[in-house]
Amino acid sequence: MNPYELIKKKRDGRELSKGEISFLIGGSLNSRIPDYQMAAFLMAIYFSGMSKRESVDLTMAMVESGEIVDLSKIKGFKLDKHSTGGVGDKTTLVLAPLVAASGGVVAKMTGRELGHTGGTVDKLESIPGMKLELPKEKFIEVANRVGVSLITQTNRLAPADKQIYALRNATATVDSIPLIAGSIMSKKLAAGTDGIVLDVKTGAGAFTQKYEDAVELAKTMLHIGEGAGKKMIALITGMEQPLGNAIGNAVEVKEAIDTLAGSGPRDLVKLVLELGSNMLMISKIASSRSAARKMIEANITEKKGLKKLGELIKAQGGNPEVIENSDLLPQPKVKIEVKSEASGFIEKINALNVGTASKILGAGQKKPDEFIDLSVGIVLKKKVGDRVEKGEPLAVFYSDGDKQKINSAKVKFLNAYAIGDLQCDLPKLFYARVFGNKVEKFSPL
Ligand code: URA
Repeated sequence: MNPYELIKKKRDGRELSKGEISFLIGGSLNSRIPDYQMAAFLMAIYFSGMSKRESVDLTMAMVESGEIVDLSKIKGFKLDKHSTGGVGDKTTLVLAPLVAASGGVVAKMTGRELGHTGGTVDKLESIPGMKLELPKEKFIEVANRVGVSLITQTNRLAPADKQIYALRNATATVDSIPLIAGSIMSKKLAAGTDGIVLDVKTGAGAFTQKYEDAVELAKTMLHIGEGAGKKMIALITGMEQPLGNAIGNAVEVKEAIDTLAGSGPRDLVKLVLELGSNMLMISKIASSRSAARKMIEANITEKKGLKKLGELIKAQGGNPEVIENSDLLPQPKVKIEVKSEASGFIEKINALNVGTASKILGAGQKKPDEFIDLSVGIVLKKKVGDRVEKGEPLAVFYSDGDKQKINSAKVKFLNAYAIGDLQCDLPKLFYARVFGNKVEKFSPL
């Protein structure tokens, strides 16, 4: 086979065979095919797309490039949840303990930050002593004993994705539906769980900003996952503004703890209830969404999810006292109020800009291997629909005190806010539930 001919075939909108796709993915991994040809192939996919069959073959070629985890020693139906990424998305930290407290088994391999979106691993590493790089035996033991275990995705999982993602990142080919679907699903299939609930984001802070693209991405991922024998469901949810109020690492852990203790922000709580209900449904722990929802609500009220988080932290080497005393989390040198320059109603908050401002403060990497300061970040005081007066704080920056970073983060942050005279509706949080080939317009319970 000749890479040039295959690139041309895709460029011209023709379908590639399974063998041709495997040849390209395998060849890229063992450097038989140079990066410049892979980059051209990715751009050809970006413009020509892929059929559902090609998406499956692309995903399976990436799954087969590495280890496939055997979770058969974990008892019960193993659950995973995946978000396509957003700003302030600490859902896993709240959801996983709540689902475990409701009788589910969550065995989740999770990642670090990607693009403008934060990573669950980075957030959890702000808990003193917490280990995310555990041997597989320990992962299995914790999942069996506690009902939930969260570990770092190893480099042995779908290594072809890692390599191809780096090329996509450098060649403006990240936001392609077949490439995103293949990238996410290759890691999910290799991670070996039985059921996966997908949270596919749409809106200004999402990889798929348009609703139609989010639905297409969800359908493609479901097709791939169900074809591989997984129970799956996807929710299309809004990422028009950051989720909750905290953006960063330790600040997001604190918000997750507060949410499990019953005082979480409205949007985060609603999202957790919906995702959790669907997880309990696909694992057949609950027979209806409303029964599932009641179980999760009770586990918030009775603080059983919070207790479960404490057990998880302890089992993975961390200090469970953080759930009672959040001062044990990394603390910033300074906290600075960022004041509004106008009076009015918050009309929009561009999640992407807020994510970037948080990165400028040091909460994320601007280039690979850069140090992440777990103590810094942003806590929003005003969200869409709120009234603000000139001089009132819009947010508090948690910072290391570096004036240059503070000033440039402030410019980015203030640009994220649109303030007007009229109070607008709250941005939509739920759009649709996708299962099989069905798209059901959403009506949260
Ligand atoms: N998350 C992934 O893992 N891959 C993508 O391509 C986008 C989001």
